[in-house]
Amino acid sequence: MRIGILTGGGDCPGLNAVIRAVVRKGEGIYGHNIVGFRYGWRGVMEGETVDLTVPGTRGLLPRGGTILATSRTNPYRTDDGVARVLDTLRRLHIEAIIAIGGEDTLGVAHKLSADGVKVVGVPKTIDNDLSATDFTFGFHTAVQIATEAIDRLHTTAESHDRVMVVEVMGRHAGWIATYAGLAGGADMILVPEEPFDIAEVCAQIEQRHRRGPTFSIVVVAEGAVPVEGTIAVQSGEVDEFGHVRLGGIGYLLQEEIERRTGFETRVTILGHVLRGGTPTAFDRVLATRFGIAAIDAAHEGEFGVMVALRGTDVVRVPIEEGVRELKTLDPTLYDVASVFFG
Ligand code: F6P
Repeated sequence: MRIGILTGGGDCPGLNAVIRAVVRKGEGIYGHNIVGFRYGWRGVMEGETVDLTVPGTRGLLPRGGTILATSRTNPYRTDDGVARVLDTLRRLHIEAIIAIGGEDTLGVAHKLSADGVKVVGVPKTIDNDLSATDFTFGFHTAVQIATEAIDRLHTTAESHDRVMVVEVMGRHAGWIATYAGLAGGADMILVPEEPFDIAEVCAQIEQRHRRGPTFSIVVVAEGAVPVEGTIAVQSGEVDEFGHVRLGGIGYLLQEEIERRTGFETRVTILGHVLRGGTPTAFDRVLATRFGIAAIDAAHEGEFGVMVALRGTDVVRVPIEEGVRELKTLDPTLYDVASVFFG
């Protein structure tokens, strides 16, 4: 069988590990022909492919990014997009596609599956906000990078008696902020799920500095929002999937905290650093298990499914379950983190 594989949406550590696993078992054990599509769904629409072989995918396990490149192209928002996808698959004799992506890429996979395309989904996102899987690969790496940054910011915050605001990714969900905040001992964590009241944030910081210690670490997810009517936030550009470009709430917090409390405040925006570089051991293993499970599903002719981690098992679930709604932060986890606030 000729099987296509693509990576869509934002890149994340572990994508290459999935590709390597799919090729190793797909070609090496099952004897399938694996064809890579460049730039996610855009490459399928444009028929831009690259042959993937076992020798050609050696050494990929620790490599960040994606050798296939990625884009946020949505065939359902492009003229003749779906017809072009179907045409490419027919022309190149590709019988099935393994789509590695987050809610947008898998949302397209789900629709194409309903339109008769044989698809297997692999969930990825550093945000960890996909339903039906306990974890997505990339998340653990992002948390590790953020935690190391928070550790470093601690020592400089303490030396200067400063408030350090650390902005991390997390558009709709505060998973990275909460995990990294917990692991790094943050004094305050602000997440999209819990609109924050700037007056309360400042009151807690002031109380802490009065009592000592006289420095604070505030971790904020880029998608965190103030309680309506408290402080104004700017909105940015929107992509093909309707997502606003975020990044900047940290600056607002820096200004407000310094103005309201009088404490010197600095902001660090970790941004794409969280998505770059080598995956952690956990993510290498998870990505490899997902890749093997995806090629197994395709080989066995089970389509319209996404591989997922449930407890310690990798299972198959309908793609729809993964994209139906976002998996927002578990409130009990936030409760644990909030014990250490202030
Ligand atoms: O979806 C993953 C993610 O890293 C989000 O956390 C972030 O908001 C977004 O991608 C950034 O996208 P881009 O790389 O297109 O700016």
